[in-house]
Amino acid sequence: MKDDKFSSKHADWEQSVDKTVKRFPERKEPFTTSSNIDVGRLYFPENDPDYEDKLGYPGIYPYTRGIQPTMYRSRFWTMRQYAGFGSAQETNKRFRYLLEQGQTGLSVAFDLPTQIGYDSDDVMAEGEVGKVGVAIDSLHDMEQLLDQIPLDKVSTSMTINAPASVLLCMYIAVGEKQGVPLEKLTGTIQNDILKEYIARGTYIFPPKPSMRLITNIFEFCQQHVPKFNTISISGYHIREAGSTAVQEAAFTIANGMAYVDAALQAGLDIDKFAPRLAFFFNAHNNFFEEVAKFRAARRIWAKIMKEKYKAENPKSWKMRFHTQTGGSTLTAQQPDNNIVRVTMQALAAVLGGTQSLHTNSKDEALSLPTEDSARIALRTQQIIANESGAADTVDPLGGSYYVEELTDRIEQDVEKYLEQISELGGAVQAVEEGFMQREIHHNAYETQKKIEKEEEIIVGLNQYKLDEEVNPDLLKVDEALEQAQIGSLQKARHVRDQEAVDQTLSAIREQAKDAEANLIPYILDAVRSYATVGEICNVLRNEFGEFTGA
Ligand code: 3HC
Repeated sequence: MKDDKFSSKHADWEQSVDKTVKRFPERKEPFTTSSNIDVGRLYFPENDPDYEDKLGYPGIYPYTRGIQPTMYRSRFWTMRQYAGFGSAQETNKRFRYLLEQGQTGLSVAFDLPTQIGYDSDDVMAEGEVGKVGVAIDSLHDMEQLLDQIPLDKVSTSMTINAPASVLLCMYIAVGEKQGVPLEKLTGTIQNDILKEYIARGTYIFPPKPSMRLITNIFEFCQQHVPKFNTISISGYHIREAGSTAVQEAAFTIANGMAYVDAALQAGLDIDKFAPRLAFFFNAHNNFFEEVAKFRAARRIWAKIMKEKYKAENPKSWKMRFHTQTGGSTLTAQQPDNNIVRVTMQALAAVLGGTQSLHTNSKDEALSLPTEDSARIALRTQQIIANESGAADTVDPLGGSYYVEELTDRIEQDVEKYLEQISELGGAVQAVEEGFMQREIHHNAYETQKKIEKEEEIIVGLNQYKLDEEVNPDLLKVDEALEQAQIGSLQKARHVRDQEAVDQTLSAIREQAKDAEANLIPYILDAVRSYATVGEICNVLRNEFGEFTGA
């Protein structure tokens, strides 16, 4: 018999389940094990009155057990493989291949010139065009990239930060050409400049104008593109730079708070912009620590948004996140071993309640993935989803003595860091002071020493090595691509209405001088006229200057 106090929140949860299954019916009726044992929706101690205060229910604040009442019983996480290389046409082919193979969301990798706002024919782009991602110079390329992909049906993530406003506008412009109303466009723009200063490095402008562009996107999307997630506050790259799991969660949440502060200072309403904030985490090797990290981060963010910022809309409290398995854990040695690592990391993300997932390919320590290795990576997710049973009950590791203890401990350690960063004046100041960078570099150094001393075993790397390594077939980006892209860019420049381009660029220049102006409508006009990423970013460079490094 349930204790009376016990049933109060339980009834709330059951109501939220009834509401959810109307839009997202559960996948099976009933869910059973291979021995025909029924698998319940959620397991919890029915006679422990403290349960509700300690852990509570999925889809109910503070969401430790997940942000949705039925989680994957209703809908699997989005299988969203990061992809992009060479020309827009080549990447479009890979996108369509992955969608045919069953992936359920797109994720665009841009080449470095695009990411730091240079056109393919800029001297700064030499040797990098189409190398680590797809080359996008103008709307012409974006149309090729998204050819035959219905933007009213597919959500697209774009890993772009400093020029996020430009690529978002190109995506909107392609939507317009497809006849998709702006309010139907779904996806995410990474748009997280702080982690670029901390760990990733594809920044252009100084913090202040960068934060302005970011909150301009918040404001524009809340008014015109309401289903688009306006930022993906990223811990992934912080972890890849060598942080601990606690630092990854802490520095990401601190950055999230800085974006909330910036949006509030820009006069935006928290319950209007916060529901479209999203997160992006790493899934590293220590399985249980990763599960606990996700659960702790979700609970911390919910409490910060409800208790510190007084947000009232439950959608403002929910930490929705994407996960990518840890690229830095992949070894160049014995690449097949990476399939095992990725499987465990992906399972940790699922048991941690991720909303979207990218699984790395086995060859990514050596090159961009081949079609075969990208397919195996996607199949890994599909096997976890459909064969393991891990998606058949909500938060299956909830209640584990180890996982709950670890979740509580990570929560405590993250909160200590948040306190330290708050004392420094917040994340922007902490970044400018180099605090997070020093913490990360210290841990990276300590970790590397442990690996070299074989105190930390990496199979195939420092133990269980082979005398002879057999290199797998690797993806090669055609060296002729750079010239071909430059030719395509020059042709696009030749056929456009140059006067319209000049007018739209000068309008951006004028508006950039007014700190109160929202630049997005002007950037949208410019991309519609086929102004290029480099041309728009150069106008902004002249107005804002360039950041010379944290
Ligand atoms: N019950 C009820 N509703 C559910 C549900 C459930 N079980 N599951 C999903 N839904 C609903 C959601 O509420 C949502 O509806 P809404 O928009 O009306 O609220 C809809 O179904 C879609 O679900 P999600 O929003 O959970 O899933 P998405 O995949 O659309 O979004 C996200 C996930 C994390 C919020 C989003 O920000 C996202 O897709 N992020 C991806 C970011 C990404 O791919 N980044 C790659 C970076 S690569 C990189 O940087 C690394 C490189 O540098 C090396």
